[in-house]
Amino acid sequence: MRLDYLTIFPDYLAPLQLSLPGKAVASGLLDVHVHDLRRWTHDRHRTVDDTPYGGGAGMVLKPEPFGEALDELLGDGAEGVTVVVTTPSGEPFTQELARELATRDRLVFACGRYEGIDQRVLDHARTTAEVREVSIGDYVLNGGEVAALAITEAVVRLLPGFMGNAQSLVEESHEGGLLEHPVYTKPASWRGHEVPPVLLSGDHGAIARWRRDQAVRRTVERRPDLLPASAVTGDWTIERAVRADAAEILTLQLACWVREAIANDDLSIPPLHEDLETVTASLADWDTSVVRVGGRLVGSVRGRLDGDVWDIGRLMVAPDLRGRGLGRLLLEHVQAAAPAGAATYRLFTGKDSADNLRMYKKAGFRVREVLDGRSGPAVLTKRISGR
Ligand code: ADE
Repeated sequence: MRLDYLTIFPDYLAPLQLSLPGKAVASGLLDVHVHDLRRWTHDRHRTVDDTPYGGGAGMVLKPEPFGEALDELLGDGAEGVTVVVTTPSGEPFTQELARELATRDRLVFACGRYEGIDQRVLDHARTTAEVREVSIGDYVLNGGEVAALAITEAVVRLLPGFMGNAQSLVEESHEGGLLEHPVYTKPASWRGHEVPPVLLSGDHGAIARWRRDQAVRRTVERRPDLLPASAVTGDWTIERAVRADAAEILTLQLACWVREAIANDDLSIPPLHEDLETVTASLADWDTSVVRVGGRLVGSVRGRLDGDVWDIGRLMVAPDLRGRGLGRLLLEHVQAAAPAGAATYRLFTGKDSADNLRMYKKAGFRVREVLDGRSGPAVLTKRISGR
């Protein structure tokens, strides 16, 4: 892959010669060219900026130097080339965009400074090449060079042959849609802190389950916005329920348990018979969470500790949003909320509630027994990994 950088501070890009990108340059995988934008100025002062039309603070990078530089670098054919303009007002840089840029033959980075680059430079470049205006985060740097370095590093490590261990690319944060699980190395005990015993067990299945649990837990706690990408669209929140939610929970509960009653041919299921007072009172006994999409309450789940068992109950999703992963999200959320003293998860569902049973089994739950009664219910449990 060929990489070009247009900047008024070429020295800023010296780190490209270091570390992994440096090695990739030496091995010929990368062909790196850093250009001083002032090379394309023609006045004595090598001027690259001017005051903004319409007034306002700061300076704007003039169109001529960038225009001439891109003419020279892109030439006539810009097939397989993407011009990456680093700017705080660009589209967010994500792992997905890194993967996309890694497929290109050549990236030309235009590093902005001051108030930015005259917009006509980008509009003109778009007539011959793909142009992406990219931001590395919701904060403002002094210039786009550091952003170009960050984007470069994220992209080039995805190139085949760049990383020694391709598996580490698969396992890390953002590749699986979850943050990465915590990691440990020797010694097993350090300053009174122990490595989680499951990692020393040699049980690869248990280790994989523990790692996934931890990844979900971290993602729920730190980046809940990453979880529902496949589950729901639009603005959503997941929050602890308060008394004011009780009426909507009751409505959702009635809507959800009618389906259960039909599946199990049993109208005596308790959730169908509760009233507002019962639901309100339950909020004091259970740790209940609710999901709202655009303000509407569309899902809920609750958990409560019984000895060392974390009881999970009333997992419900609005009937029109079923099948989108919201139930799985709620299940992951309530599992992640289990307190330190819990060793097992337990939940109940109708013995003929096929969809529920499928989801719970897929999440690692096993049916322990089926209680007496028309609809069962079936009792499912799962050990909390590492405990
Ligand atoms: N230039 C200044 N701030 C930036 C940011 N957050 N991302 C990309 N380029 C920038």
